[in-house]
Amino acid sequence: MRQHKLALCKEHYLEWIPEQTERFINKYEMFHRGEKILVAVSGGKDSLSLWDILVRLGYQADGLYIGLGIEEGIGYSSESQRLCEKFASERGLRLHVVDVAKEYGQPIPVMAEVSHRGQGRPCAVCGLAKRHIMNRIARDLGYDVLATGHNLDDEAAVLFGNTLQWSGSFLLRQSPVLRESPGLARKVKPLCRFYEREMAAYALLRGIEYIYEECPFAEGSNSIYYKELLNRLETDKPGSKLIFYLRFLDARESGLFAPAPETQVTLHPCPNCGQPTSTDDLCSFCRMIATVNSKMEKEN
Ligand code: AMP
Ligand code: FES
Ligand code: ZN
Repeated sequence: MRQHKLALCKEHYLEWIPEQTERFINKYEMFHRGEKILVAVSGGKDSLSLWDILVRLGYQADGLYIGLGIEEGIGYSSESQRLCEKFASERGLRLHVVDVAKEYGQPIPVMAEVSHRGQGRPCAVCGLAKRHIMNRIARDLGYDVLATGHNLDDEAAVLFGNTLQWSGSFLLRQSPVLRESPGLARKVKPLCRFYEREMAAYALLRGIEYIYEECPFAEGSNSIYYKELLNRLETDKPGSKLIFYLRFLDARESGLFAPAPETQVTLHPCPNCGQPTSTDDLCSFCRMIATVNSKMEKEN
């Protein structure tokens, strides 16, 4: 690990990753033992490793898999679901599964097409649905905190995109911990300081079976392009990615991105689902579902 000027054998590496995770959990006051954690698992290396690490550290962590209905010839969703279920059953862990098509009527690619959101890519609709469902399950089933597997490469790419646009409100919200607020669960990213390579090495050494394929719709996305750019920088200057992210967290902490008072929005509970929204009417998720269902009814 050139960025840390550190080389470890397998045995010590498998100890080092959970030790560091515990340090980050404490440093950012994410949660403590005794709290109920819901880990959102996609079947990929990061989220399954996160679940593995939290359980090993003695935290009380259940899983949540959201079936998005993205098959695209490679059975992406069914294969990732199978791997999450296998992971849970082999370790005697509890996994909640939400099937989007069964619960809301259509799989994500159809919702995206019918609702015309996101310029031909289902990613915007997918993100909206995942955020809504993760929050719903965490809140309804009484979890104290929702944990996702975002790693340093994910966070640095998002930060790079937000910085290129100087999106103040997004920069303000990008954090390893988002505290709970009325209707919104606390959200944490315990792996946000690990490089993607470090998590891949952990999953491999731990023998975790995960899906290698990226979501088929991710190809050509900005986030992949930013990751490639940052990897080029990292190759020439090891540690750049980590410094870019950590210095940002310091700057945010010291108030660099404080919101202007007039930009503070008031939130109301959505009349349909109860989740907070800035509009007086339905939240964006419920509005999207209503549009899709009414268009599908008209077509039939
Ligand atoms: P992504 O947005 O695909 O980069 O995923 C970021 C994080 O969101 C993952 O590390 C998981 O914690 C969570 N996640 C992504 N897809 C799913 C899914 N289908 N079900 C549950 N959690 C997911
Ligand atoms: Fe959501 Fe790819 S569009 S995971
Ligand atoms: Zn709603």
